[in-house]
Parts: sequence; C-alpha cells; structure tokens
Amino acid sequence: MINIKNVTKSYAKGSVKAVDDISLEVKNGEIFGFIGPNGAGKTTTIKMITGILKPDTGSITIGGKDIQTDSVEAKRQIGFVPDSHELYDRLTGMEYIKFISDVYGVPEAQRKANTEKYLAMFGLEDSSEELIKTYSHGMKQKITLISALVHEPPLWILDEPMTGLDPKASFALKEEMRSHCDRGNTVFFSTHVLEVAERICDRIGIIDDGKLIAVGTIEELRKGEKGTTLENIFFKLTEAAEGGEK
Ligand SMILES: Nc1ncnc2c1ncn2[C@@H]1O[C@H](COP(=O)(O)OP(=O)(O)OP(=O)(O)O)[C@@H](O)[C@H]1O
Ligand SMILES: [Mg+2]
Repeated sequence: MINIKNVTKSYAKGSVKAVDDISLEVKNGEIFGFIGPNGAGKTTTIKMITGILKPDTGSITIGGKDIQTDSVEAKRQIGFVPDSHELYDRLTGMEYIKFISDVYGVPEAQRKANTEKYLAMFGLEDSSEELIKTYSHGMKQKITLISALVHEPPLWILDEPMTGLDPKASFALKEEMRSHCDRGNTVFFSTHVLEVAERICDRIGIIDDGKLIAVGTIEELRKGEKGTTLENIFFKLTEAAEGGEK
C-alpha cells in the first residue's frame, strides 16, 4: 500500500538531516506502528508520505500512485490526521465535517452514516453544533479524526492519534483501526505509547536520528528473547544507536 524508496529529507538548507535514506513497504491489511524518540523524523516521514513535504531524494507510492507525480490519485486513498489541529475555529464541528466531506465529494448518505457513527463513537453528538474554538484539545482531535475518516479512505495515516483522547475514545479508535485493517485496509500511525504499539500493530518500525533502525513484527524484534517488551527493545536499540553502533 505504501512503498517508500530511499527517501531523504533535510531542513535548514541541509544542516538538519531529519530523514536519512529510509526504505519501507507497508502492506494492505496491516497496522504499522512507527515509533522513535522526539525529533527522530516520524512527522517528517509522515508529511512526505502524505505529500505535504517533498523528499530531497527518493520516491513514495500509495497503492502504486506516486505521491509527487500522481498526487491527486495518491491522496484520494489517504485519510490523514496530523499531529496539530489546524481547524477552522469559527465553524462548528458539524460544519467542519461537512466542509471536508464536500472537499472529498462524499455522497450524502455515506456522509450522514459515517458522521453519525463517529460522533456517537466519540461521544460528540451533543457538542457537534458548538463552535470549534470552544472545544477542548481532545474534542478537536476527535473532529480531526472524524473528518479524516468520513470519506472512507483505504489508508489511514495518523500522527500520534491517541494524544489527548480519553480512555474510552482511545479504546474506540484502536478497535476501529483493527476493524479497518481486518477489512483489508491499512493503518500507518506514529505513537509514543509503546504498550499500544505492542498490542495492536502487525509490524513496527523504529526510527532514530532519521534512520530506520529496526522493522518487523514484535516477535521478530524480540529476536527470540521471550518476554522482552517493546519498551526494552526500544531502549536497547535507540541507546545502541546513540553509542555510535549505527
Ligand atoms: N520545519 C522544520 N524546520 C527545521 N527543522 C525541522 C522542521 N521540522 C522538523 N525539524 C527537525 O527535523 C527533525 C525531525 O523532526 P520530526 O518532527 O520529524 O520528529 P518526530 O519524530 O515527529 O518527533 P516528535 O516525537 O517530537 O513528534 C528534528 O531534528 C527537528 O528539529
Ligand atoms: Mg512528530
């Protein structure tokens, strides 16, 4: 579903190498977790996958469509939840969802069904007519999620989606991610909550200092060491990288 080939990205005229020669394939039907320390390059990678940033070198395809040269077809397949909420404060939650649905040309019946389903899932039925500027952090996150998913994209790309969600909403989202993938769709998400990644991901990628230092199922990452948690693996690998063993 996602094919990343030798992608590199630097900021500040080349002085900060945020992503350093990453290659990765994410298959249909899998939940892929992307973990790594602050500043490791997760958001930069996600911005390149979604076409917001252009890689310095390398290429990315979504369902076989190049995100740079065939961007409309590639983006049509993506539901993206960024790490910040750039919502229109002067719209209500419902107006915002309608606005995004119009952008994607979501048919009325599908829009209505999905909006009702997700508003109920996140307990937002009573506040959907209020202005977004009155919303809490978690409520904004919920509206961002609903508007990213309303057009039923096959690929969900979520940058730290659980941040700010209460336990019930976080649980509902995890269930929804699983059922999305069980229907043959794909989820790529970043998180700092390693217990969540360990529990729900089919495969995990660890990025550190712009480099992909490990990719695999949790079993593969354990390398036969029974009972090792993802947290243990994470510390071991990221500390080894810091010690110059790259
Ligand atoms: N707009 C920018 N201009 C310059 N440097 C940037 C910019 N955005 C990110 N960086 C740098 O690129 C590197 C990777 O940042 P990125 O936001 O991709 O990390 P991250 O893994 O998402 O971190 P976090 O876990 O804190 O969200 C960091 O060194 C960061 O300082
Ligand atoms: Mg980030």
